[in-house]
Amino acid sequence: MCYCLSMRTLILYYSKTGNTQKYAEDIAEALKCDVLPFKKFKKKMIDDYDTIIFGSRVMGTRIQKLDPFLAMYDLMKEKNIIIFAVGMSVVTKTTREDLIKGNLLDMYHVRFYQLRGSFDYSKLGFVERILMDNSFRLIQKDPDSKPDQEALLALKENPIVVYDQAGVDRIISVVRKIDTVVPEGL
Ligand SMILES: Cc1cc2nc3c(=O)[nH]c(=O)nc-3n(C[C@H](O)[C@H](O)[C@H](O)COP(=O)(O)O)c2cc1C
Repeated sequence: MCYCLSMRTLILYYSKTGNTQKYAEDIAEALKCDVLPFKKFKKKMIDDYDTIIFGSRVMGTRIQKLDPFLAMYDLMKEKNIIIFAVGMSVVTKTTREDLIKGNLLDMYHVRFYQLRGSFDYSKLGFVERILMDNSFRLIQKDPDSKPDQEALLALKENPIVVYDQAGVDRIISVVRKIDTVVPEGL
């Protein structure tokens, strides 16, 4: 029997080097739902959806564009809201809690997921390279940071390539669970 999702889902994403975009598009393909870059999103679209997923990249523990997204929270609070953050950090209980606290997510009724993404220094824009180079310089001045220095320098030379399939599957399965699944044709 063929089942279809009865609720309308929209995925919004903010991505610079493509990781978050790929996750957003893959989740949208699996859920057969709409997907849009955040900059194309208009408030008037909110009424068209029951579930809104917002995915964005992490920079310095901040989830980019989260503030303008959550500025519309009052208009969305009757909806299912899912947020996913994409960063190069390994996903652990601590990194997840740091993202929740650092982005004040515990003040909102949202589901939150952290996906590990790739990092490629050669793909960074001018400003981001400066930010990364500043981190390299600061850490090199700290004599206690030898392991961190090595890790950061390795990062500059060797890209991290990660695709978090388990994280993607988890988000897809959660959306399917919160949705009311009805047999097609009823
Ligand atoms: C300046 C800078 C700071 C970053 N800070 C973090 C961070 O604090 N935590 C993290 O997990 N990833 C961090 N990253 C890694 C990116 O978020 C990661 O590469 C992500 O996959 C990029 O997403 P995108 O490809 O969708 O743009 C940082 C990247 C840059 C350039």
